[in-house]
Amino acid sequence: DWTPFAFAEESIDALKEQLKDDKVVLGLSGGVDSSVAALLLHQAVGKNLHCIFVDNGLLRKDEFASVLSSYKDLGLNVKGVDAKQRFYDALAGLSDPELKRKAIGRVFIEVFDDEAHQISDVKWLAQGTIYPDVIESVSVNGGPSATIKSHHNVGGLPDYMKLKIVEPLKSLFKDEVRRVGKALGLPDDILGRHPFPGPGLAIRILGDVTPEKVDILQQADYIYVKNLKDSGWYDKVWQAGAIYLPIQSVGVMGDERTYENVVALRAVSSVDGMTADWSHLPYDLLAKISNEIINNIKGINRVVYDISSKPPATIEWE
Ligand code: XMP
Repeated sequence: DWTPFAFAEESIDALKEQLKDDKVVLGLSGGVDSSVAALLLHQAVGKNLHCIFVDNGLLRKDEFASVLSSYKDLGLNVKGVDAKQRFYDALAGLSDPELKRKAIGRVFIEVFDDEAHQISDVKWLAQGTIYPDVIESVSVNGGPSATIKSHHNVGGLPDYMKLKIVEPLKSLFKDEVRRVGKALGLPDDILGRHPFPGPGLAIRILGDVTPEKVDILQQADYIYVKNLKDSGWYDKVWQAGAIYLPIQSVGVMGDERTYENVVALRAVSSVDGMTADWSHLPYDLLAKISNEIINNIKGINRVVYDISSKPPATIEWE
């Protein structure tokens, strides 16, 4: 019978055998998969596991600092890298969703590569790839969906980084990864976290990305997620987030006419992200979130709720 404890024990033994005294580098994202992979490897090779957590400036508000400190509390050997400006520079003027994804993927590899080169004699690259990623990347590379969205979590490292790959979660489904994480003591705030796309808020800002738009969206998203948590809805939806629309509409504030941007709210139920239904959030909760966003964030005077299912819509707007 499969149990998370037996899996962890066997996998740690196998990793010790495989990696011996070699150094391993791993990119942490703040998500469940890379975190669980790190914990397993940490138990197997200790300080020989070098984790890199990149701040791409596209994470949720305050997330980089809080997740980095959780990682340190777990005893991981982790380096936080502030690369915000490199990502903003690469994104400047880009509005096509796929070009934005490519730019982010490219800069991530550059930053990660710079950091990995500072670890002398590293032999292995660890990845938090899980079983569905393996399946999906095969169909994405081979199938008609190849150009729908280029997910950049799987694969992509430059050839000259001749590292051997180790993927301890490759045989697991998401719920099994969560159970292993729980067994290894990963805190609930990381375990229960909604999926979040690698390109982050860049694909929730339609059109070109600027630090000012990121700041506005982070504030709106923060209010949204906080209200979902306070009302008990966070754990009932599979994924939620706010989207910044490059559209201005007329509003009124006091006796002043305003002409400001629109924020859309998205929340979906899903099993694997392949199909999704929009979540029927209560009207009074939506009303509270809308009021808080509009009253507190300069630059936003209208909030709308996305009632599209996937298919034919997608979960993200880009
Ligand atoms: P869509 O928008 O395709 O999203 O319905 C399905 C799931 O995939 C996530 N997503 C991404 N994840 N890189 C990622 O790592 C990406 O480029 C990307 N695009 C979408 C999305 O958040 C949802 O969970």
